Amino acid sequence: MLGFSLKDLSILITGGGSGIGLGAAKYFLERGAKVTICGRRENKINEAADALGSSILGMVGDITRGDDRQRLVEGAVRHGGGLDVLVNNAANMYRGAITELQEDELTDIFNSNVIAGMMLSGLCVPHLEKREGSILFVGSVHNRRAFPGASPYAATKAAVQSLTQVLAAELGPRRIRVNCVVPGAVFTEINQRAGLFDDATARARLQGMAGMHALGRIGTEREIAEAMSYLISAKWTTGAIVDVDGGLGLGLTHE
Ligand SMILES: NC(=O)c1ccc[n+]([C@@H]2O[C@H](COP(=O)([O-])OP(=O)(O)OC[C@H]3O[C@@H](n4cnc5c(N)ncnc54)[C@H](OP(=O)(O)O)[C@@H]3O)[C@@H](O)[C@H]2O)c1
Repeated sequence: MLGFSLKDLSILITGGGSGIGLGAAKYFLERGAKVTICGRRENKINEAADALGSSILGMVGDITRGDDRQRLVEGAVRHGGGLDVLVNNAANMYRGAITELQEDELTDIFNSNVIAGMMLSGLCVPHLEKREGSILFVGSVHNRRAFPGASPYAATKAAVQSLTQVLAAELGPRRIRVNCVVPGAVFTEINQRAGLFDDATARARLQGMAGMHALGRIGTEREIAEAMSYLISAKWTTGAIVDVDGGLGLGLTHE
């Protein structure tokens, strides 16, 4: 089998009921991991858990809630017999001109995209250090490519990339690695919800987005999962921020 063996690793993925998180869950399961996923929508979590077999545990929960985070970590530790990896994948998109931003929406996006992952990471440390485990954040090209109207999302992803490096330094002495994958465009719900791929304009949008990538196409969930599995397996890699973006971060413009 191509790729890294993840045999018997216990991996917790936030937001594994759709998109990149679901793609990662499938990929990790194929490589022998025991996976726990979570999300707020019961139907998405149940669908994924039913489809993917007995090595996956689906938990309905909101990572912005302390009690749900506690339950989630306990569930993952029980399911996997400990915990090797936390993938801080769940995030939401909020866009708008700086003059129009709503404070409650800003607070919500920082809670889900930054604060929840920090608190979860802290909760997982005692488990991860028993197994020389790792934390994986999911960043975004928005951190270094400036798209007008994307300031809330971009600011949260800049925070995630900064956290990766600070926590790598802080947790290195405890033998916990912290890394980050930075995906280019992948066609998932987060983009649909932000109206980036609505039906009427989907085709033109997709072509436009594809043209901004040096490789001329958007990516797949599986391609992000491959890079994640590398970072999970690379025992001397920490504090790394790895672009998996088809060259989107190079700053090409669509002709
Ligand atoms: N797709 C792209 O082009 C792209 C590019 C760069 C980076 N990313 C990053 O990739 C990651 C995954 O996004 P995606 O593209 O796969 O979009 P997605 O399909 O919308 O996945 C996000 C997941 O997070 C879950 N989630 C959101 N808030 C949550 C909360 N408070 N508690 C628990 N779960 C929560 C959602 O499920 P519920 O709504 O059911 O809770 C959803 O399943 C995100 O970090 C995103 O920023 C995506």
